[in-house]
This record gives sequence, structure tokens and C-alpha cells, in this order.
Amino acid sequence: MSSFYEEVGGEKFFADLVSQFYAHVAINPILRPMYPDSDMKGAAQRLQMFLEQYWGGPSAYQEQRGHPRLRMRHAGFHIDSAARDAWLDAMHEVVDATEMDPILRAQLWSYLEMAANSMVNQPD
Ligand code: HEM
Repeated sequence: MSSFYEEVGGEKFFADLVSQFYAHVAINPILRPMYPDSDMKGAAQRLQMFLEQYWGGPSAYQEQRGHPRLRMRHAGFHIDSAARDAWLDAMHEVVDATEMDPILRAQLWSYLEMAANSMVNQPD
């Protein structure tokens, strides 16, 4: 059985998804200040590696960054519901505009929504 990673087209799919997502981040007034000025490329690379690994692709993330522990890695950022919504809105635009099997799209979206909710670390 092939993995989600292979079914959506491998590295190119994730590279495109993440670069389009960061184009939104770069102009978003809530998100932009949270990301490192001097290392936007690195931030994009980390997200791409993580998503590739999560969906059954290469495990470069684990090799370079260790265990994901994403909630802990986000603890230093102020993530309230507005930040979560900004992140998800940006991702939603990209995922919606991407040509892909609707079943895979629904699978991707439900994971991202669940993951973003789990990253919230500030009460409203
Ligand atoms: C809920 C809203 C979210 C906000 C505001 C947010 C914000 C951030 C910020 C500011 C960083 C640091 C950038 C850097 O790597 O230098 C980061 C890192 C990262 N985020 Fe998020 N994030 C959110 C949700 C998510 C979700 C849902 C995922 C996964 C599906 C994710 C995956 C990652 C990964 C893999 C890193 C790099 C971790 C590392 O290895 O250091 N984030 N995020």
C-alpha cells in the first residue's frame, strides 16, 4: 500500500504547500511577528520536513530535530484562538487551492485542524 506522501505526489506537494503557506505568513499581521525574521526559510524547512515525515515520507525531521513534541515546541509562542484561526485560515486557503483528491484533501484538513487546536496554549 502506498503512503499518503506518495499518493499526493511526494516532496513537490509538500514543498509547494509549505512555500505557499509561508507566503501567507509573511503578510499576516498576527503570524508574521511570531516567526524568526532571519530564518523564515529554516522555519519553512522544518514544517515541510515534519509534514513529510508525518504523512509517511522521509524521516529527515526526526534526524535533524529529534522527537517532534510539537506542543512543547510551541510553548514559547503566544497561541490563542486568534493565532490558531490565522494559522488555519492561511493553511485553508492553500489547501483549498491545491489540486488533489478530495478524500486526501479532507484527510489532510482534518489532521491540520486537530493539530492546530492542540497547539493553543492561551485561554480566550
Ligand atoms: C496553531 C497555530 C500555530 C502557530 C501560531 C504556530 C507558530 C509556530 C512558530 C512561531 C514556530 C517557530 C518557527 C520556527 O521553526 O523557527 C513554529 C514551528 C513549528 N510549527 Fe507551528 N504553529 C502553529 C501550528 C502548527 C501546526 C498545526 C503544526 C503541525 C501540523 C505546526 C508545526 C510546526 C513545526 C514542525 C515547527 C518547527 C518545530 C521545530 O522543529 O523547531 N505548527 N510554529
